[in-house]
Amino acid sequence: MIFETHAHYDDAIFDHDREELLCTMEKQGIGAIVNAGSSLDSIVRIRELIHQYSFMYGAAGIHPCDTGTLTEEHFLWLKEQCKHEKIVAVGEIGLDYYWKETDPAIQKMWFERQLLMAQEVSLPVIIHSREAAKDTLDIMKSLHAEKTGGVIHCFSYSREMAREFLELNVSFGIGGVITFPNARKLKEAVDYIPMDRLLLETDSPYLSPVPYRGKRNSSLNLPFIIDKIAEIKGISSEKVIEITTDNAEKLFKVRCKG
Ligand code: NI
Repeated sequence: MIFETHAHYDDAIFDHDREELLCTMEKQGIGAIVNAGSSLDSIVRIRELIHQYSFMYGAAGIHPCDTGTLTEEHFLWLKEQCKHEKIVAVGEIGLDYYWKETDPAIQKMWFERQLLMAQEVSLPVIIHSREAAKDTLDIMKSLHAEKTGGVIHCFSYSREMAREFLELNVSFGIGGVITFPNARKLKEAVDYIPMDRLLLETDSPYLSPVPYRGKRNSSLNLPFIIDKIAEIKGISSEKVIEITTDNAEKLFKVRCKG
């Protein structure tokens, strides 16, 4: 079955039909979901989701755009959350220079602290990096992020950057962008990255693949992403599912159903 490595079902946009939607996942071939954390509030809601659904796992981390108001007390609380048995990663953490509301110096400080926290609690990291490739890479190198490994979520950089990140023992989360007609650079990167470093993700409710671009996304759209990767790699969609599920099970140390 399919392992969805990045979604945000804690988002209020799912409030009216979350249960109905999540109850169809297993029937539709989705055997595991990692719900990524973004804010302190999101982690509270994620704790409820992982309690309620056996196939749901969580990541605890503060998105770079939400680091502006973090305090020492929050950070201690965050570290406590990482001890929950169904919290399988620290994330999403990183740098975002596209949305400019949070000072890059503050983003960097909390990125570094959360990277080190992941090493203390022995969890892989889920990295959000937007228009910040070089700083992301420099920080991960200097703090030896290869110790925990992790995933560059919604990878959208070039093949050259992929080569640099490959050396850091990270995997690459591939989502709906791969189906966009103008995603030439990303298609080249996916062609280049070895299959054993690819993971499937949607980033739901964001980034719906073609033909649902612009609409609310859900893990049920993963087959569009799988088919595109299969086409690029010249293998079957079944093989893409088999390998990416195996990759995700190894990274997050949990079993996917099916
Ligand atoms: Ni996300």
